[in-house]
Amino acid sequence: MLEDHIALTESQNLTSIQSYLLSEEARYPETNGDFTWVLSAISLSAKFIAARCRRARIEAVLGDAGAENVHAESQQKLDVIANESLLRCLGTRPTVAIVASEENEEPMIIHSETEGERPYVVLFDPLDGSSNLDVCGGVGTIFSVLHHDRRAHPIESSPLQPGVNQLAAGYVLYGPSTVLVLTTGNGVQMFVLDPQIGSFLLVEKDVRIPEKSKNYSLNEAYTSSFPSGYQEYLAWAHENGYSQRYVGTMVADVHRILMKGGVFMYPPTEKAPNGKLRLMYEANPMSMLIEQAGGKSFSGLDRTLDIQPRELHERASVILGSAGEVEKVQEFLQ
Ligand code: AHG
Ligand code: MN
Ligand code: MN
Repeated sequence: MLEDHIALTESQNLTSIQSYLLSEEARYPETNGDFTWVLSAISLSAKFIAARCRRARIEAVLGDAGAENVHAESQQKLDVIANESLLRCLGTRPTVAIVASEENEEPMIIHSETEGERPYVVLFDPLDGSSNLDVCGGVGTIFSVLHHDRRAHPIESSPLQPGVNQLAAGYVLYGPSTVLVLTTGNGVQMFVLDPQIGSFLLVEKDVRIPEKSKNYSLNEAYTSSFPSGYQEYLAWAHENGYSQRYVGTMVADVHRILMKGGVFMYPPTEKAPNGKLRLMYEANPMSMLIEQAGGKSFSGLDRTLDIQPRELHERASVILGSAGEVEKVQEFLQ
C-alpha cells in the first residue's frame, strides 16, 4: 500500500551517502578522511552525469563525438562529458595519485608526489552502455579504487593490480531512477538519488544476491562463436525453463542480476577471444560487488579477482551472479 510505503520512509532514518561514508570512516580512527573524500567526489560526479544524461537530447549532446577511443570505438559526446566530469571532480585532490579511464589510452598522473599516508588510484568506465543513450536505455558509470603502489616502476604501472586489491568498487545506473551501488569491503550498500534534494539516500544496506534464479543474461547473437561449453549450457537452460534478459549495458544487466539473481555472461567470441569487457574497470569492480553480495564471478574457470593484469585495457570474459547459477555454467565448461 502506498500509505505503508510513505510510513516506512518516514520511519526510516534519512542517511545520505556522505553521512554513510562518514559513519564508516569513524569506524577506522586511524584514517584521515581522504578515502571518504575520493568516494564523495565520485558521487558528486555521478549527480552531474545524471543531470546531463537526462537532458542529453534537449542539450543536443547525443550521438558521436567524432573521435574514437583506445578501443577504436566511436566516442559518444556523453562519454567525453562524463569522463571530463570525473577527471574534474577527482583531479583536485592531492591524495589521488593516478586516474585511469576507459576513454584515455594512458593513466593520468595527477599527483606524482602525493600527500596522505596512502594515496589512491581511481579507475572508471565513465559511461557504460553509451550506445543505449540515443534510445533512452539505461546507461551507467563503473568505478574502482586501489592503493597507489609507490614502488611501481614505471609509475604508470601502479594500477596493474589484481582485483582482490580493490579498496572500493561500485556503479551508478542512470535509469528510471539514479542508483549508486557501493562496496568498501563491508558488504554492498545501495543509494538512490533524490533529485528534489540532490542527495543519494541509503535505501538498502548489506544487499544480498538471491541464491538461485532461472535467469541468464548474454548476447545470444554470438552463440555460434562461443566456446562449446557455453553453447551446451544455453541448450540446457532452454530446456529447463530459464528466461533471458539482456540490455547491452553491463551496469543495467548486472544490477538486475544483483536484485533478482541469475547469471550474467560475456563469453569469449571469435571477434573478442578474451571477451569484450575490460578487466580493470568493468569486470573487477562488478566482481567485487557480486562477491560482497554473496555471489561468484569467474573468467572461465579462473576467479576474476585473482587475475594479475598485464595491461590497463585488457579484456576478460565474465560469468557472474548467483553462486548456484555460476556453478551451473562452469559444470559445462569443465
Ligand atoms: P561501453 O559502452 O562502456 O563501451 O560498454 C559497453 C559494453 C557493456 O556495457 C555491455 O555489457 C557490452 O558492451 C554489450 O556488448 P554487445 O553489444 O557486444 O552485447
Ligand atoms: Mn563499459
Ligand atoms: Mn564506457
